[in-house]
Amino acid sequence: MVSTVRASSFAVHRFVDIDSTNDWLLAAARGGALDRTAAVADFQRRGRGRLDRRWEAPPGTALLCSVLLRVPLAVEDRHLASVAVSLSAIEALHAVAPCAVGLKWPNDLVVEDQKLGGVLAETEGTEDADGRVALVVGLGLNLSTTGPSDAGGTSLLDATGTMPDRDQLLDAYLDVLSVRADELCSATGRAALLSAYREHLVTLGRAVRVTLHDTSIEGIATAITDHGHLVVTTADASHVIAAGDVVHVRAPHL
Ligand code: BTN
Repeated sequence: MVSTVRASSFAVHRFVDIDSTNDWLLAAARGGALDRTAAVADFQRRGRGRLDRRWEAPPGTALLCSVLLRVPLAVEDRHLASVAVSLSAIEALHAVAPCAVGLKWPNDLVVEDQKLGGVLAETEGTEDADGRVALVVGLGLNLSTTGPSDAGGTSLLDATGTMPDRDQLLDAYLDVLSVRADELCSATGRAALLSAYREHLVTLGRAVRVTLHDTSIEGIATAITDHGHLVVTTADASHVIAAGDVVHVRAPHL
């Protein structure tokens, strides 16, 4: 670790290289680390993505940041921690590196359907005596790299023509997240997060193909449930998708 500073409501631990900022914070959470601890790295040796994928970026080419949130969230509301992170990243981008960024379900940041960033949320342990659960939520945002080769990605450099200042982006992100994380703790805050999530989800209304374990579904993404599940309507049914890979396609086969 090179330094620890306080930014916004977060205590930020900075690393030149690390296995994974999520792994470091999961271990820190087991050791009693406080709510609003953050870990940022220039490089991850074993960065992890959703669905057991790797998340790789050359040193200094991405914003790699995980946060520990200890929040009173029921199991069905825990997806909102990822929503708080993805919305905070979008709002920080609007302030620091404006581009037409939206969300692909569940929480991929995309520009013109190309992946700019992703979010990985993990739970550590069970609820504490106050009903709070420890959630570690990692954000990987491509600054000059286009991300893992299989992700069909883009970078902020490509999207805006300028290499953004990573620390300025990090500060803006943690400032917004300080507010968005508070929203996780009240019913009105959670409703605000859901509403903003639906507004930013470019998947809604689109033709999609969802790959599940051994099958795939093509239809229109018609809704998001309050629990963050995607509703895909096909010619004969509505399917509620809790987890899976979604591709935006041009036309549905209804
Ligand atoms: C995805 O698959 O879209 C999610 C990618 C999340 C990557 C970030 S980078 C910071 C944090 N540490 C990790 O090992 N993964 C997350």
